[in-house]
Amino acid sequence: MKIMAMRFSIYTLLVLSVYFISNCPVNLAHRNEDDPTIKTMEEFSGYPIHESHFLNSLSSLSVDAETLQKQIDELSSFSDSPAPSVTRILYSEKDVLSRRYIKNLMEASGLSVREDAIGNIFGRWTGSEPELAPVSTGSHTDAIPYSGKYDGVVGVLGAIEAINVLKRSSFKPKRSLDVIMFTSEEPTRFGIGCLGSRLLARSKELAQQLEKTVDGQNVSFFDAAKSAGYMNVEKLSTVFLVKGSYSAFVELHIEQGPILEEEATSIGIVTAIAAPASIKVDFEGTGGHAGAVLMPKRNDAGLAAAELALAVEKHVLESGSIDTVGTVGILELHPGAINSIPSKSHLEIDTRDIDEERRNSVIDKIYESALNISKRRGVKLSEYKIVNQDPPALSDELIIKAAESASQELKLTYKKMISRAYHDSLFMGRVSPMGMIFIPCYKGYSHKPEEFATIDHIADGVKVLALTLAKLSLS
Ligand code: GLV
Ligand code: MN
Ligand code: MN
Repeated sequence: MKIMAMRFSIYTLLVLSVYFISNCPVNLAHRNEDDPTIKTMEEFSGYPIHESHFLNSLSSLSVDAETLQKQIDELSSFSDSPAPSVTRILYSEKDVLSRRYIKNLMEASGLSVREDAIGNIFGRWTGSEPELAPVSTGSHTDAIPYSGKYDGVVGVLGAIEAINVLKRSSFKPKRSLDVIMFTSEEPTRFGIGCLGSRLLARSKELAQQLEKTVDGQNVSFFDAAKSAGYMNVEKLSTVFLVKGSYSAFVELHIEQGPILEEEATSIGIVTAIAAPASIKVDFEGTGGHAGAVLMPKRNDAGLAAAELALAVEKHVLESGSIDTVGTVGILELHPGAINSIPSKSHLEIDTRDIDEERRNSVIDKIYESALNISKRRGVKLSEYKIVNQDPPALSDELIIKAAESASQELKLTYKKMISRAYHDSLFMGRVSPMGMIFIPCYKGYSHKPEEFATIDHIADGVKVLALTLAKLSLS
């Protein structure tokens, strides 16, 4: 098996020189306990550096890039749409297959696996001081319709490989390390993004909502979860994490934007995650025959939806900030026949901003527009529901510093940046200090089949993650 060597050469060199000095027949240098190099090395390794097994451990710090790429490719075959697209919807057969795949890999890496009532999966590497709050990492493997194979997946398979990297190096964690695969980061099936991490972050509101949530086919959340084998799903409060359960959470993810690639920077260190919101709107008109009902007599629910979609764009642009975005990703018309005036329309609106107040003012304007359109067109605004209106999240300074020094020590270029996409980290940040590591992706493409990240970039991300976890585990 060809292992792409991603060696921590700076450490290897440092350790070799220290090893040489301390084992040389003529002791050329007196070992100085205050030497910052020695301190750094010991901090990283958890061992006194003059011990020879540490030398061995550093020389084997490598990412098995070939196997990791194979796993990414294999996982992408669990899809309900043809390659190169990936569609993997919560609790579907393909989602269950991907869960099994991840659990098997976790077990093969020697992690002890547990699942909570909704299928968040945890693989633990127990540290030498298991009573301390563990450090965690992870992401998701569900995929929106016709998306790509890297979103989320890099942060799950990459996290397992980061554990392998540390194990191969003989690193011994002080705090336990958890790899988490979150249930349903994507909102596709039940309209709720970051469902698993939101519940881990103790959202009582979500727990209540899930008791009556159904999907587009009227299958309840509980029935869907049971069909995937989660028979205790009703016990939603058992999912809640106690605040302080983790000393840190770090997520590795593709950037999903073009900046790192354009600037030829290897690593993005996320300082904040933009505030997402989503809204569901229904209009109802009287419909009728497309030929027989004359234009002045119509109250077309489809045109009301079209007008509201344009109003979303207008309000977003009016904010004057490039950071304000809005999307109507779902627009459905009923009955959906060419010769029938739409009697019902349904829109789902996604709007985000790093500035929460500005995002909220866009939401207010969208509501005003929905009311005005409904009055002017004589259609009923039968539903206006803000599904989620989340605040932004700030990364933890110590985690930023750990990722920064990991990047520096690995001689990788990095920049601090915000995440415009949301992630499970947004919610893990409510119960744990949080940070994120980004890697470049091709042209910033994401949520489409063209999504791509090179294995070299992924391996760099895994190295930074491994070293960051090591540092956090020893802190
Ligand atoms: C995550 O998938 C997002 O929509 O930002
Ligand atoms: Mn996504
Ligand atoms: Mn994602």
